[in-house]
Amino acid sequence: MPIFLRNFLFKIFGAAILFSVWAKHRLMGYRKPNTVSADDRDARIDYVHDVMQSWLRFLPADVSVKNRAVLELGPGSSLATGGLLLAHGAKSYTAVDAFRLAVGETGDFRRDAIARFNGTMQPDDIKAANAVLDDFSPPFQYHVDASFDIPAICKGQTFDLILSCAAFEHFDAIETTIDGLTKVAKSGCVSLHIVDLQTHTNAIRQRDPNNIYRFSDWFYSLLAFPGQPNRKRPIDYVRAFERNGWVSVEVIAAKSIPEDQRKMLTAGLADRFRSPDMDMHMLDAVIISRYP
Ligand SMILES: C[S@@+](CC[C@H](N)C(=O)[O-])C[C@H]1O[C@@H](n2cnc3c(N)ncnc32)[C@H](O)[C@@H]1O
Repeated sequence: MPIFLRNFLFKIFGAAILFSVWAKHRLMGYRKPNTVSADDRDARIDYVHDVMQSWLRFLPADVSVKNRAVLELGPGSSLATGGLLLAHGAKSYTAVDAFRLAVGETGDFRRDAIARFNGTMQPDDIKAANAVLDDFSPPFQYHVDASFDIPAICKGQTFDLILSCAAFEHFDAIETTIDGLTKVAKSGCVSLHIVDLQTHTNAIRQRDPNNIYRFSDWFYSLLAFPGQPNRKRPIDYVRAFERNGWVSVEVIAAKSIPEDQRKMLTAGLADRFRSPDMDMHMLDAVIISRYP
């Protein structure tokens, strides 16, 4: 089949999916942050282990979690990442979200995630972490506020390490969020964000990962819903961090479209996603920066 026809058909299919996701969110609100079944405890633990391992893998070699005040943005349904960070010696963990998705989780689940983690943790750090995972008070905090006004939510608290996974692509205005992060960053703060740039709907994600970029801004915003991927590209993050004075801003392509499929999967996109600086071959990006 010619590429233009294939992409046209995927555009129609994608529009139908966009409409159904929009309708579902209108009816049910924003409820489920990832594809892991809420009833599958093992899979949920594997998922948070995967997030933690990814952060540790991508953290610059001179940066450790030990004794750091850590802020996580958009933790979704699990704060076990916070338990794991404390068990790795973090001084404190604060999670900030716009949706209250993690309230159903218990301290036992977080302790289980620590116990099953295959990595180097000190017994004293594990013990200290296990003792604080039942309630939301320092050093283990969870703040939810629909405004997502990070400096207001953090009330003067500042951080050495700011992390997120699969969250930044859902924020309404990444420029405002990065401006807010800058106000709560200590000097020397490192921020590391794993951003899922792909189409999120499973039915189409593998076959047409750039499907959401096929639509004009007008059509895409017509079907906007809370948590809709914001279609920001790595260059947008780099510009926003640099504008706020962050340095050594680095983008790592954690997942890319294989060479032999690039032509097909990056063709037929909306005009503003056609320039080379959009890096449309990039599917998962890790954005790392430092605050001087
Ligand atoms: C896909 S979930 C990722 C959650 C978790 N980090 C994970 O890996 O499963 C997206 C996260 O972004 C948050 N979020 C979605 N839309 C948002 C918005 N407009 N402003 C702030 N947070 C938002 C959600 O509440 C959720 O915590």
